[in-house]
Amino acid sequence: MWPFGRSARRRGWEAPDTDPLHAAVQEVISQIPVDFGGGCPPKKAYAMAWLIRSERLRTSLDIGVYRGRSLMPQAVAHRDYTGGVAYGVDPYSSAEAMQLDNEPLRERIRQFIDATDFERMYGDVLALRDRLGLAEHCRIVRKTSEEAAADFAARGVRFGLIHVDGNHDTAKVLRDVELYWPLLSRGGFLVMDDVSWASVKPAVDAVASKATLVFYESQPTVTELDYAVFWSGRSHRKAELLRESLRRLRG
Ligand SMILES: C[S@@+](CC[C@H](N)C(=O)[O-])C[C@H]1O[C@@H](n2cnc3c(N)ncnc32)[C@H](O)[C@@H]1O
Repeated sequence: MWPFGRSARRRGWEAPDTDPLHAAVQEVISQIPVDFGGGCPPKKAYAMAWLIRSERLRTSLDIGVYRGRSLMPQAVAHRDYTGGVAYGVDPYSSAEAMQLDNEPLRERIRQFIDATDFERMYGDVLALRDRLGLAEHCRIVRKTSEEAAADFAARGVRFGLIHVDGNHDTAKVLRDVELYWPLLSRGGFLVMDDVSWASVKPAVDAVASKATLVFYESQPTVTELDYAVFWSGRSHRKAELLRESLRRLRG
């Protein structure tokens, strides 16, 4: 049962039905289509926005923006609660989007990329961000994650939450966690997408060796959810509270 009441709310457990953040996230993602190339599920979008609000994370990062279903909800949480910024990194390039490691999907990925106009998608995402009134809280960096990591590191930018959902080939996703782990703030969250993919697993294992797992669900064909949340903090008590909260959010 959902824990209603003041003490529950103090701990950040607002029932989704009555939580204005939930409504704002749904409103935004209802305007962004899901297709073969991407489409963050509503529960995951809300979970990331919820973490930003409840942990007061002022800077977050989305690696692999695509149409913006995982980035815009982060920006909503910053606009409405933290005053901070969600960065999105995506090269919007057919060459960079190609993924070779997932053999069963390789041909479908190739056909999808051939049919996708990334230039146009980039323009559409910028226009959507502006139309949603998110421009002040959302910066889109049109670079590969590797190029962007060097810029962020040079500028001393650190993130309270990083969502890794760019190129899913093993070498690329391993590089993402290697480059971005040092850019995570102390007590920050690393969210890994598509944890069921064999090509992503080595990166999940690498993160699991240094961070605390606080959420994992991998049933893409049943619940659409296929992601894990790692926390870089050390307190067992807080890890338990995070686990309980994320479980409740998931419903
Ligand atoms: C699965 S989609 C992202 C879906 C999106 N997060 C969502 O929830 O709808 C993967 C995206 O990663 C981008 N991408 C590919 N290579 C990349 C790289 N090296 N760095 C950052 N993004 C990359 C692709 O252009 C594509 O838009």
